[in-house]
Amino acid sequence: MTNPLRNLFHDQPNFYEPNLIHMRFLTGLQPSGQLHIGNYFGAILPAVQLQNKGEAFYFIANYHAMTTMASPDELRANTRALAVDFLACGLDPQKAVFFAQSAVPEVNELAWILSTVCPMGLLERCHSYKEKMARGIAATHALFAYPALMAADILLYDSDAVPVGKDQKQHLEVTRDLAGKMNDAFGADLFKLPEPIISESTAIVPGLDGQKMSKSYGNALPIFGDEKEVRKLINKKIVTDATPLEDPKPTDGSIILALYKLFASPMQYDRMLDQHHSGGVGYGQFKKDLFEAYWEYFRPAREKRAWVLAHPEYVDDVLSTGAARAREEASKTLSRVRRAVGLA
Ligand code: ADP
Ligand code: TRP
Repeated sequence: MTNPLRNLFHDQPNFYEPNLIHMRFLTGLQPSGQLHIGNYFGAILPAVQLQNKGEAFYFIANYHAMTTMASPDELRANTRALAVDFLACGLDPQKAVFFAQSAVPEVNELAWILSTVCPMGLLERCHSYKEKMARGIAATHALFAYPALMAADILLYDSDAVPVGKDQKQHLEVTRDLAGKMNDAFGADLFKLPEPIISESTAIVPGLDGQKMSKSYGNALPIFGDEKEVRKLINKKIVTDATPLEDPKPTDGSIILALYKLFASPMQYDRMLDQHHSGGVGYGQFKKDLFEAYWEYFRPAREKRAWVLAHPEYVDDVLSTGAARAREEASKTLSRVRRAVGLA
């Protein structure tokens, strides 16, 4: 496996696969706190890889984040932090249109228009809404209508394909449903029906306790943690058994091996696997190797991040250029829709 972050500083020529050249990919990420390696392998890396395969529109879903976040300072800081981290992880603003959702307020108008054809039952069935209510998040209108706003995000930019995690699959179905209803009511060609890209091969990254890694479970390994913090997380939070150092170690369900595989070369991984089988190497050493592979893997991104943090004007510039480009596209779609529904 080659580290996709290694090439960050090299200007790669735009590489297009002919069958994908006209595809427009769009995805949004909520600015909901420190990014972890589950977010990286499940969402950020696939998005960064797709920017070379077509047109990419990527945004920070800060309107959506308001459904679960009440602090303005936190929302502002997280939005900024996500912009910095996404750029550090390889989002290339020469290739992808990158913007904050709220920089294109037109999306709210489209969400309203879509909501006029959106049956209540469709939203009532959404797992994400039910799951958030069960977690005690206030059942506001915004939380309920969240999928209609997400549909507007996608349809506003005439997106062909939307890379998302499995948890968002149902929201893509709602989007397609609403696009179809709009086309039935107002003209067959009003909206393209977007395809979800749900990578079954993107395995769920396990957390330090073996459950799915999630910021809500306290089991996450941050992408940009500091050295001491991450060493401590790996040492303290990955629970190992009492196999003596000289004995073979179990490999099934090993969290160390599962995480190491994400960062190490195949040769390094095979070596650790052999050491599990043969015995003679302790968990302390495996954890050290895991930390080192993690640290090395994210080195280019860490360096890029330090540069981005030192150039706040670069981030402002990327986001405002992205927003202008996104708004151009949004206003075209919105005029078409306004005409179709009788608002213009
Ligand atoms: P969290 O579970 O930490 O709250 P989010 O729900 O905000 O994470 O997820 C943001 C993106 O990261 C989604 O696309 C999701 O599919 C992806 N993601 C989150 N956790 C993981 C994981 N453990 N493995 C793979 N992808 C993940
Ligand atoms: N709901 C998505 C999430 O929580 C974020 C999101 C908002 C999104 N709008 C979108 C993703 C449009 C894809 C397309 O992860």
